[in-house]
Amino acid sequence: MTANRHLQLDSEEMRAIGYRIIDLIVERHRTLPDQPATHKESPPELSRRLHEPLPECGCSMDAILQQVLDDVFSNCSRLDHPRFFGFVPSPSNFIGAMADALASGFNIFAGSWISGAGAAALELVTIDWMRQLCGMPESAGGIFVSGGSMANLTGLALARHAMLDDRTGGAVAYLSDQTHASVRRALRVLGFLPCQISELATDGRFRLRVEDLAAAAARDRSAGKRPFCVIANAGTTNTGAVDPLAELSRFCRDENLWLHVDGAYGAAAVLCERGRALLEGLESADSLSLDPHKWLFQPFESGCVLVRQGALLAGTFRVLPEYLADIHRGAEDVNFGDRGIQLTRGFRALKLWMTIKYFGLEAMRKAVVRGFELAEAAEAEIRKTHDFEIVTPAQMGVVTFRHSRAADQEFYRRLVDGMAAGGLAFLTSTVLRGETVLRLCTINPRTCEADLTQTLDRLRELAAGMIGSG
Ligand SMILES: Cc1ncc(COP(=O)(O)O)c(C=O)c1O
Repeated sequence: MTANRHLQLDSEEMRAIGYRIIDLIVERHRTLPDQPATHKESPPELSRRLHEPLPECGCSMDAILQQVLDDVFSNCSRLDHPRFFGFVPSPSNFIGAMADALASGFNIFAGSWISGAGAAALELVTIDWMRQLCGMPESAGGIFVSGGSMANLTGLALARHAMLDDRTGGAVAYLSDQTHASVRRALRVLGFLPCQISELATDGRFRLRVEDLAAAAARDRSAGKRPFCVIANAGTTNTGAVDPLAELSRFCRDENLWLHVDGAYGAAAVLCERGRALLEGLESADSLSLDPHKWLFQPFESGCVLVRQGALLAGTFRVLPEYLADIHRGAEDVNFGDRGIQLTRGFRALKLWMTIKYFGLEAMRKAVVRGFELAEAAEAEIRKTHDFEIVTPAQMGVVTFRHSRAADQEFYRRLVDGMAAGGLAFLTSTVLRGETVLRLCTINPRTCEADLTQTLDRLRELAAGMIGSG
């Protein structure tokens, strides 16, 4: 084969490859419930299969796709599988996946108006839809980022800039012991030391206590420190707990503190009435992280940060090098490259926009409600058995439980590994106040009750076998 030095295919070749890939994706979706929820070979085995010399010559697409399917994708969890209940699943949807293919196929640059006016205009619309859903004022703005970690980093960079003028000395941020690790990492990246993070113990329902926060902030002020930010949870990863957002926002306003809300997985619940009731006060956040690649059914990577004062984004991130002078001409032009950390950025807004347009909000609302209902169904199923007992009841699509006769961490590790190895379903453990527990996150709207029953039956069998043999 002579080298294809233009890296170009003719229309027939493109169609053949494109249709083959679409067929593979459609077939994967059709057969998903019959495939293992997760599977992985060992690192040496995968290294053996995939390591090869840098290929000097190209090879056929059939061979490449076969290798991707057999060695790569078969060794990746199916986070949109109806029985994938571990961590925070990513139920995704086909329209979102096709939107990614479109954005990539048209190679849309979403960093500046001059190169991507249509993309910027559509991102503004989609961000405004998120703003409306979250009840934030018209002054609010936002940006799509890769996920919750980047959304938290972006929100906290804004807090540092707005509240501290970027001077971190003596500043203190407050968070609960249930806060996602990405928040600590973001604070570290932003130059805060561990001693500048005040971690507060939570109440019986794993929520931040405002009295404790008030006492800690008062103590720090009188010691000459500079409290500047509170990070609240709108759905913790561990149990789905929601901090008292309305009370926290009043406290932050009175004390002149920035309120960043991590709603990476839980904020999507504002779509439905029961979620809105649980999330009361969300609308008062100064910055808010939400992850469409979780409970808004988008493929990776789709994160979003909303900011009460939208103008702060450019105020914090904008720099004006001479080689970008041409992008800063029109006063009304919107350059998302000025509003976040990335200059070159893909067109992430398209997938959420297309999904909402195609299915409509009513369908998405029902899909979110389903997540609540499935966790409640799982809770009811667990309560019926004698083998397991509930630790935290269904909340925002999460339920945690323990085995009634086994408590050590090793037992749960073996149980989680045993479930994963069987492939039927995938769930994970976590630790609550020193106790290892099992956890189901049920936000996939295509999960049915039979999936829950099969999963719990299998779990019971495995646990009984382990206790019997142990
Ligand atoms: C509450 C919360 N915040 C932040 C994150 C981090 O999000 P990502 O993994 O998209 O970076 C997660 C991920 O599960 C989360 O549950």
